[in-house]
Amino acid sequence: MSEEIHIEGRDLHRSFQIGKKVIEVLRGVDLRVRRGERLFLCGASGAGKTSLLYTLAGLERPNRGEVLVGGRSLYDQPAHDQARLRNRMMGYVFQSYFLLPELTALENVMLPAMIGGNRSAERARTLLERVGLEARSHHLPAELSGGEQQRVAIARALINDPEIVFADEPTGNLDSRTGEAVMGALLEMVTEQKRTLVVVTHDLHLAESGDRKLILADGRLVK
Ligand SMILES: Nc1ncnc2c1ncn2[C@@H]1O[C@H](COP(=O)(O)OP(=O)(O)OP(=O)(O)O)[C@@H](O)[C@H]1O
Ligand SMILES: [Mg+2]
Repeated sequence: MSEEIHIEGRDLHRSFQIGKKVIEVLRGVDLRVRRGERLFLCGASGAGKTSLLYTLAGLERPNRGEVLVGGRSLYDQPAHDQARLRNRMMGYVFQSYFLLPELTALENVMLPAMIGGNRSAERARTLLERVGLEARSHHLPAELSGGEQQRVAIARALINDPEIVFADEPTGNLDSRTGEAVMGALLEMVTEQKRTLVVVTHDLHLAESGDRKLILADGRLVK
């Protein structure tokens, strides 16, 4: 792991207004992730883990504070540059997969590459193989189990060889054995390429498999 700070969150605040009530989810989060680091974020349901991940990942602008990626402010860039950065440099595994139902597993994995102008299926096939799904390439998401869909989502997150992978409960819907296998595959691929990984999980045991674990509680990070 290098000493270079890859992602930095400064004084991040995020709140939601529902009717007259304001819920403060992030209340001044400060965070530095080193290049190549595998960081796990834990916390109770509703603690704000997904909100924090989305904020760091360029998907949700904070109400206050800033996010720097490679020393550059993320949300200060024009929308087009932010979109390009997300497509080229970041990979996402969402809590509820977000696979496109009309595309096969292989096509879902290829999609972020196609957005970037690359139509080759070769890397997508290799990634599906790595997550043990080569025999399911031509299946639609509805024909796959939850764990299989989660593995397709992981392959898709890695297709553009992103510098940073953000994963939200990538094993949340799996039994513990499958969960460990899926996390193992993700960690292996990220570590091999020395990529930065930020994983949200409520599983404290699983969270031990990275370099560092932080817990989100009362809108702030604690060790
Ligand atoms: N778009 C939104 N509008 C209103 N409230 C929201 C919105 N998104 C999140 N919240 C609220 O913010 C809080 C934190 O939500 P978040 O999804 O970040 O939690 P989480 O830690 O990821 O929970 P879980 O472990 O259940 O996924 C919750 O109370 C949630 O209801
Ligand atoms: Mg969540």
